[in-house]
Amino acid sequence: MSSQNIIITYLIMDPINQVIDENKFRIRLLAIAGSPRRGGNTDTLLNEAVAGAVLKGAMVKQIILSDLDIAPCRHCDGCVESGGTCVIDDDMQWIHQDLQDYDRFIFAAPVFFMGIPSQAKAMIDRCQALWAVKYVLNKPVATKPDILRKGSFISTAGSTRKNTFSGSLATVKSWFVTLDIAYSEGLFFKGFDNIQTAAHDRAAMQEAFMLGQNIISS
Ligand SMILES: Cc1cc2nc3c(=O)[nH]c(=O)nc-3n(C[C@H](O)[C@H](O)[C@H](O)COP(=O)(O)O)c2cc1C
Repeated sequence: MSSQNIIITYLIMDPINQVIDENKFRIRLLAIAGSPRRGGNTDTLLNEAVAGAVLKGAMVKQIILSDLDIAPCRHCDGCVESGGTCVIDDDMQWIHQDLQDYDRFIFAAPVFFMGIPSQAKAMIDRCQALWAVKYVLNKPVATKPDILRKGSFISTAGSTRKNTFSGSLATVKSWFVTLDIAYSEGLFFKGFDNIQTAAHDRAAMQEAFMLGQNIISS
């Protein structure tokens, strides 16, 4: 794994965007961008949610999955044998740690063939190592198991079909359950195919901003 491949937007800001001491904040939010299209709809909405969270005083780390080195799960059961550590040495090693450490999560991903993009699904599948921690080793999956962790999901889709988000939502909820993250809120927008649809939709942007605020203040 090369650290040169890791691109992280790391925000530690107070409400007027001044860089401050990260230890000042109790709530840490991990914002996960799951679309391979940079600057697209889910990226834009996630950025807006992050702005809302920052305004509520959160410390936010934003990661872009398509820029990271994340191999698919091999179902080798190496994580079961090693006591919860995945045998694949790539960016999931530190993402696993973040997923155990953080208090709040916002996952943004568009609908791809009724599911989520392969980059995002690879990340979730690799959480089998944390599934092993919880269900095989019977150990707490969260670093601070006594603190309630919460997660929200933002998604967009090109079509306006019914049940467009049901496959993705089932995946995300199952992932959250495994990580002991309570599902907080979902934002779903249909008919968003153009890369700039979200950016031009003031109501959608406002809802995303509110989602970011809600997950920190709730
Ligand atoms: C490979 C691929 C598969 C897609 N599959 C679906 C789909 O099953 N249903 C749908 O409504 N939109 C589908 N879309 C459209 C995207 O969900 C839509 O454009 C979304 O807003 C893209 O979000 P983004 O800009 O954040 O990447 C697909 C797009 C791609 C590239």
